[in-house]
Amino acid sequence: MLRFLDAGESHGRCYVGIIDGMPAGIEINIESVNKLLSERQNVYGRGKRMEIENDSATILSGVRGKITTGGPIGLMIENRDYENWKEYIDPLGEIKEGKEVTVPRPGHADLAGMLKFGFDDARNILERASARETAIRTAIGGIAMELLKLFHIEVKSHVVSIGHAVSVPDNMDEAFWNNVDASLLRCGDRETEKKMISEIDKAKESGDTVGGVVRIVAMNVPAGLGSHTMWDKRLDTRLSAACMSVQSVKGVEIGMGFEAAKRYGSEVHDEIFHGESGFYRKTNNAGGIEGGISNGENIVIRCALKPIPTLLRPLNSVDIHTKMPVRAQVERSDVCAVPAASVVLKAVVAWEIAVAFLDKFGGDNIDEVKNAYDHYIKRLNLTQLQ
Ligand SMILES: Cc1cc2nc3c(=O)[nH]c(=O)nc-3n(C[C@H](O)[C@H](O)[C@H](O)COP(=O)(O)O)c2cc1C
Repeated sequence: MLRFLDAGESHGRCYVGIIDGMPAGIEINIESVNKLLSERQNVYGRGKRMEIENDSATILSGVRGKITTGGPIGLMIENRDYENWKEYIDPLGEIKEGKEVTVPRPGHADLAGMLKFGFDDARNILERASARETAIRTAIGGIAMELLKLFHIEVKSHVVSIGHAVSVPDNMDEAFWNNVDASLLRCGDRETEKKMISEIDKAKESGDTVGGVVRIVAMNVPAGLGSHTMWDKRLDTRLSAACMSVQSVKGVEIGMGFEAAKRYGSEVHDEIFHGESGFYRKTNNAGGIEGGISNGENIVIRCALKPIPTLLRPLNSVDIHTKMPVRAQVERSDVCAVPAASVVLKAVVAWEIAVAFLDKFGGDNIDEVKNAYDHYIKRLNLTQLQ
């Protein structure tokens, strides 16, 4: 079973992750993992914090001479900002006053977390609730991608909309994905990109924030990952939970999603054809998953992100001590998290696909995984062509 845990706080010394269950014998290219981290970091709409950090992952264990050993993989990402915060955050030292948060921000974990854990300082909550945690999850997804690429599975993502600026790409070819990689908004369409920049700038000028939509596409996923046999084995269950676990994501659609609810069945379901290379579809409204099982088409997911809760022109709130109405506290903050979240989302989707992949083909060593995979693909091809 492939699983991970992570720990760390926004202004703590570092984030750490532990991956358990990665087979032995996989070559890890740390540059690819760090490229993902830099994609997450260097996008438009981020705040001053990202100018301080220079995220890169250090592997602590489970990899020897670039090859996984089968042991738990320990990962670490340091927080450079810790130097400025250590007196306020030190796990064992005296805590210096001055960074308390007693006025919770609407939309953040501040109030619910203080009520749940019994604190009158939301600092104890927001340090862990912060989406800086997605840096370590991006690195963990990057390790999963090292497994997936051995089987030519690729997970990509792009920003579909920010505020009212919506991109409707009709052709997601190589040029489109190159545009995404070259774009500071991770949007493949230059015209919409300009409109997205002005949406972010407009929000920033008025002390506000803005949300948007991200699309994630997983390519070359074999038919047969996930299962209809139990609710928690369904691939759509796992993928939607993983996407929803990313801070700010408030909606997840697979394939046609909510639009399918308005249409007739004949307009939604992807008809089945058979040709020289087996079964095929002319449409992919199902988004690559039927009955909780991958069907061999691209897996297509869309996620809606709410606007960031920390506003420079803060909303009404209440002081936890005086119970008097005041404006919410302001923390240093991003204006738009959507481009960064698009990178996080492809990492968490890659992770979940790797989990389902090893559930089906898992072994202690990558050669065992390859044997199981090759054997299955042979049988799949036979079933398709007989
Ligand atoms: C990549 C990323 C960066 C974020 N940056 C900020 C930020 O700078 N300030 C902020 O208030 N919220 C930020 N958020 C959103 C909050 O972390 C999130 O709204 C909060 O933890 C509450 O969780 P929820 O929105 O899932 O309910 C960010 C989210 C993501 C995905």
